[in-house]
Amino acid sequence: MNMHATALADAHLPDEQTSNFARDAIGDLSQHPKRLSPKYFYDATGSELFEAITRLPEYYPTRTELGILRDRGSEIAAIVPKGAALIEFGAGATTKVRLLLEKCAFGAYVPVDISGDFLKAQANALRRDFPGLAIHPVAADFTARFPLPAAIAATPKVGFFPGSTIGNFEPDEACDFLKSAHGILGKGALMIIGADLEKDERVLHDAYNDAAGVTARFNLNVLVRINRELGGNFDLSAFTHRAIYNRKRHRIEMHLISKKQQTVRMLGTSFSFRPGESIHTENSYKYSIDRFAALARGSGWQVRESWTDAKAMFSVHALIAE
Ligand code: AVI
Repeated sequence: MNMHATALADAHLPDEQTSNFARDAIGDLSQHPKRLSPKYFYDATGSELFEAITRLPEYYPTRTELGILRDRGSEIAAIVPKGAALIEFGAGATTKVRLLLEKCAFGAYVPVDISGDFLKAQANALRRDFPGLAIHPVAADFTARFPLPAAIAATPKVGFFPGSTIGNFEPDEACDFLKSAHGILGKGALMIIGADLEKDERVLHDAYNDAAGVTARFNLNVLVRINRELGGNFDLSAFTHRAIYNRKRHRIEMHLISKKQQTVRMLGTSFSFRPGESIHTENSYKYSIDRFAALARGSGWQVRESWTDAKAMFSVHALIAE
């Protein structure tokens, strides 16, 4: 057993999720450069902060994608088979899926999310508003293969992956996700997917460095979680949020920058930081229409339609599984 494994074995963590968090955090903070996975942003506070981000004046993606879904609703409805099942990969706020459910003749809705409690609450709200719709929540990690409910085995399938969440995957992970979705939905299935577009760097910079500091709190929240759940002693005032656009790699990078020389402890392990040293916490890839089509093609999908808003800020694609 190495030193970190010994620290983990001695830690008596309350559940498997916390143990995974501890293993990932210790492993990632031991890398050079240091990093933390963006999946740990989303505890209850992180999810609330993300919802707040989506309402910020600088953060255009959410409202722009909603506008596209609203404006192109009839075109989307025209390619959705009557009675099809809508399978949503990851279930967040229901605003976007409601737009699709209102416009298209879906017979079933299958939200897939790792958080079972969240799914139940969301399904109950939708059952009230769409009484004729069969809702089959699936509690699973949507980035891995999972079985669909038997009730929709013979039903045409339409995947839904909004929000440009695909942009938070590394390009090889995005390809793996699309291949896995292809395997789950099957040949001939449709996929409605949102992807943020490349654009003026100042617009991108402002979207991830908002004036009110909400994105900074969202970023720092991962350290709050380490302190609370893993007994860490990060001094939040000694780290600062930084988001930069990496032009060569077409991505926004989020970092937490150490303001000084410091040592932080967590679960019996120490991590030293130099002044200016970064913890790389998130990438948000931006795709041109062509680069997204190439990603889709390389993962077994063909682009049937691509829609953008008038200012070409965001794109929504309808893909078909070959
Ligand atoms: C969830 N995801 C698509 C967001 C994004 O824009 O990459 C997460 C986010 N990070 C900072 N602001 C928003």
